[in-house]
Amino acid sequence: MAHKLKKVAILLVVILLSNVSTSLYAQDAKAGKATFRSKCGSCHAVDLKQKMTGPALEGVIDRWKAAGDFKGKSGEQWLRSWITNWNDPVSAGMPYAVKMQTYDASAMTVFAGQISDEELNNILAYIANPAAAAPAGTSVSTTMAAVDTESKSSYSTSIIVALLLLLVLVYLLGRASKSLSGMSINKSGDKQYTLELAEEDKTPFYLKSSFKSGLMLITTLLFVFALGKSAMNLGRQQGYQPTQPIRYSHELHAGKNKIECQYCHFTAADGKHANIPSVSTCMNCHKAVQQGPKYGKSEIAKIYEAVGWDPNTSTYSKQPKPVEWVRIHNLPDHVYFNHAQHVTAGKVECQTCHGPIEKMEEVYQYSPLSMGWCINCHRNHDVQFVDNAYYKTFAKFHEEIKNGTRKRVTVSDIGGTECQKCHY
Ligand code: HEC
Ligand code: HEC
Ligand code: HEC
Ligand code: HEC
Ligand code: HEC
Ligand code: HEC
Repeated sequence: MAHKLKKVAILLVVILLSNVSTSLYAQDAKAGKATFRSKCGSCHAVDLKQKMTGPALEGVIDRWKAAGDFKGKSGEQWLRSWITNWNDPVSAGMPYAVKMQTYDASAMTVFAGQISDEELNNILAYIANPAAAAPAGTSVSTTMAAVDTESKSSYSTSIIVALLLLLVLVYLLGRASKSLSGMSINKSGDKQYTLELAEEDKTPFYLKSSFKSGLMLITTLLFVFALGKSAMNLGRQQGYQPTQPIRYSHELHAGKNKIECQYCHFTAADGKHANIPSVSTCMNCHKAVQQGPKYGKSEIAKIYEAVGWDPNTSTYSKQPKPVEWVRIHNLPDHVYFNHAQHVTAGKVECQTCHGPIEKMEEVYQYSPLSMGWCINCHRNHDVQFVDNAYYKTFAKFHEEIKNGTRKRVTVSDIGGTECQKCHY
């Protein structure tokens, strides 16, 4: 009996350890993803389907390996050398690199002195296995990973394993309690009765009502746990970065040209949703700005197309065709989220939730938008309580702040973790 329990315990430890090791591996890819986003993401995607300035990097390690050794260095070493400073393999005459250099009219950034070996290893780990950078645990905001089917399926296998283990435990516990009851009767000296009990009790364990109700309880618990866990941890398409119909760049507009977010997304301050600007907002400037630094006239021409403006005659003479922007952030219908509450009342910066938008050539979903992400912030984020008209009604907290018994009011304190605040 005791050694069976020990076996179960050992099995549990093994499973826990194997989880730890996979999450350690995931850390490299995860760190790699973050570095990739900040250093490479403006010119490269990993996904072969996405076209950017530089080639998509999926399978790039194999491509360089396949190029073979050159001047005593392996293809992979030359790849590292390329990423650090692409001039090196090119001036060494490495054929693959020489050809690669002609890929685009613009050149890749030189990273010599700006990228450590560790960062390079992490980036390559991420490119080799983007799935490993999927979010793990409840860590929030720093995870910049995409949801992937792989992590979901490994998650459900661990649920199944846990279920099986619990079944074994229930069985063993049932036996243990039986022999315990036998023992207590033994002590009272009634040997006869003990024997009878052992003999009479031949019902297979899986038909016993205690086993059945135990099973029900565990299944229910696991179900609730799985639901809650998936809501807590699974990001909604974190990292999602669709290609938009017009190559509009936040980096160029909000970053370089310092246009305020709310110049375009003006309903964010007092509405539930932040609007996507209509093309007539674009025309405020693009009647005059007819040419861009990267795409020349071709992308701006799409704005004219959309509003039906003819730049040659400067008149609205054509049939307008609305732009169909691809929506990136999208909470499920059962969740209530309000921008004004966060932007105006909560005074949370756009970037806290959306990341460095002003550095994004193309917008991607920075935060997981999972329930755990919302709740974690609500637990830890102080509301700007004092001098905020929105919180006049919280008399008790104001009293406590005045007499010094309270230092902070978190969103959670004002009810921000109650289910019905976020769920319809
Ligand atoms: C400013 C844009 C830019 C940035 C930033 C950039 N690259 Fe590149 N990269 C390119 C271009 C363009 C090419 C194609 C070569 C050419 O045309 O000169 C390229 C080529 C490559 C290649 C060869 C691709 C292949 O299919 O063999 C690799 C590998 C690569 N880049 C990795 C990186 C990594 C890793 C980073 C981040 C540390 C990075 N690049 C950052 C523009 C960029
Ligand atoms: C000149 C107008 C303009 C400015 C300024 C601007 N945006 Fe945008 N924004 C857009 C357009 C157009 C889109 C839709 C296309 C896209 O996703 O790139 C968009 C999309 C977005 C999205 C994704 C919406 C979705 O589909 O889920 C976010 C988030 C966003 N902007 C945040 C910001 C933030 C934060 C700033 C300030 C740092 C900002 N924007 C500044 C025009 C603008
Ligand atoms: C507390 C986090 C948070 C802050 C702060 C925030 N957003 Fe959002 N934003 C979200 C979430 C969550 C969504 C998805 C909403 C949905 O699907 O209903 C979203 C969606 C959007 C969208 C897509 C349209 C929509 O409303 O669904 C745009 C555009 C946007 N945000 C812009 C902004 C801008 C601009 C700011 C700053 C003025 C800002 N956001 C501040 C969390 C935030
Ligand atoms: C407040 C002024 C302003 C607004 C509003 C504005 N833009 Fe621009 N846009 C600019 C400027 C400035 C440039 C860069 C011109 C340059 O650097 O040569 C530019 C460049 C561009 C380019 C060319 C990019 C390239 O690299 O070739 C595109 C495409 C573009 N804008 C799309 C849009 C769209 C779509 C909207 C509306 C959602 C918009 N712009 C709104 C000022 C604006
Ligand atoms: C970066 C921090 C942050 C994140 C992330 C965040 N919130 Fe909030 N939230 C706040 C702050 C600050 C307030 C207080 C503003 C207020 O209530 O006036 C708040 C308030 C709220 C309230 C009103 C609570 C009340 O008691 O009045 C709701 C509902 C809410 N948030 C929903 C969400 C949802 C849904 C998400 C995730 C999609 C989310 N929040 C993500 C910071 C955050
Ligand atoms: C601060 C906001 C917030 C609060 C408070 C909150 N939720 Fe959620 N909940 C969310 C968001 C956001 C999602 C969507 C997550 C997703 O689908 O990735 C969600 C999803 C869910 C789901 C669906 C899971 C799924 O996989 O689609 C369930 C069930 C759920 N919540 C239950 C609860 C319960 C029970 C409570 C109260 C203990 C609660 N929530 C409190 C924000 C919240």
